[in-house]
Amino acid sequence: MATDPIPQFPAGFLWGVSTSAHQIEGAADERRASVWDTFTAEPGRVKDGSTAAVACDHYHRHREDVALLAGLGVNAYRFSVSWPRVSSPGGLDFYDRLVDELCAVGVRPVPTLFHWDLPAELDWLERDTAARFADHVAVTAERLGDRVPTWITLNEPAEHTLLGHALGVHAPGRRLLFDALPVAHHQLLAHGLAVRALRAAGAADIGIANSHGPTWPASPDPADVAAADFYDLLLNRLFCEPLLLGRYPDGIGELMPGDVEADLRTVAEPIDWYGVNYYAPARVGAPRGAETEVGGVALPAELPFSLREIEDRPVTDFGWPVVPEGLTELLTHLADRYGDRLPPLMITENGCSYEGLDDRERIAYLDGHLRALHRAIEAGVDVRGYFVWSLLDNFEWAEGYARRFGLVHVDFETLERTPKASYAWYRDVLRTQP
Ligand code: BGC
Repeated sequence: MATDPIPQFPAGFLWGVSTSAHQIEGAADERRASVWDTFTAEPGRVKDGSTAAVACDHYHRHREDVALLAGLGVNAYRFSVSWPRVSSPGGLDFYDRLVDELCAVGVRPVPTLFHWDLPAELDWLERDTAARFADHVAVTAERLGDRVPTWITLNEPAEHTLLGHALGVHAPGRRLLFDALPVAHHQLLAHGLAVRALRAAGAADIGIANSHGPTWPASPDPADVAAADFYDLLLNRLFCEPLLLGRYPDGIGELMPGDVEADLRTVAEPIDWYGVNYYAPARVGAPRGAETEVGGVALPAELPFSLREIEDRPVTDFGWPVVPEGLTELLTHLADRYGDRLPPLMITENGCSYEGLDDRERIAYLDGHLRALHRAIEAGVDVRGYFVWSLLDNFEWAEGYARRFGLVHVDFETLERTPKASYAWYRDVLRTQP
């Protein structure tokens, strides 16, 4: 592992960690149900049969978790507000307290307004869900906006669409393949309406957290290149270009519902920065006429591409390849592709799943990715912040508690928190930064 100090990042850089409500809060009996509660109640949906009813019990242990943030020395904390909790009696009181506690220890609250836990009675196939989201945003901003400077509208609408509605491995468990496209459009519309609601409440620092990764063709064969281009369109362009350019890529707009041109004017409301969640690149080839499985997700044979292994790389416990330079490639590519249409960037998630308290692999992963991020900044990409996924081991969606992404270990029997070696490492890195 490299022993040189991590290079200096720009003054004013946001250094943080990320979490999401459904994955850590628990206290499910003190809020309304979300699609994830319905989904996890169905047998076979979550690999270890677990639910997030208790999770890390952050709802009751938030003071301890804020103390962990303060001890880590981050200057920002990305969490999400649960829409079902906000719409339950007293739900906003919890976030009000959390925000106060963060401000008291000098940590900037960076809430995400939707991180997949849709109220159970709502459905992203319905256009009206976008308007309902704008109401949720307005209520939340009115209550927290006096102390929250920085907002995130949505987390990874691409994964929510693909895993939740196209492939059925996340809530709400639909397997619609390309008939899931309206879910993408309605989330993008929701994003634009949310930006307007936040502006109306006085917000001046608004972004989104979209997942991105370099897409490498399996070979120079034109069939592999075409398949990789299509995958790149779905992952890297479909949720980005409507926001930044005001249009869908390559004829996709014709497949979307409603008055798409009018909606795109809403979707493209200017944002102040653009959030990138990066984990790993993908190697993509032509379809193989059979299901392909990589990194825990099985892709059906009907799709016009297949996923291939990235060989000769260490992998995380999830089976994801560790490719730090993919982050430099991704960021410089985004800057080249979108030029002056690209707002300043923020890395809103980056991390890995490994077992154990002496988590040297996680330290190596984060070390490598911070250096790769710094190289992108040296190459001229404007990046304003970096958030590790995640503060705590948590409910990892369809994987249950089997995948541990935290800088802090959580014993899910006792709920005891124990900082891992990576927590001390990140704390020491932050001490050396301006
Ligand atoms: C999501 C997180 C998730 C992480 C690791 C991201 O796609 O935003 O909620 O835990 O990846 O899988």
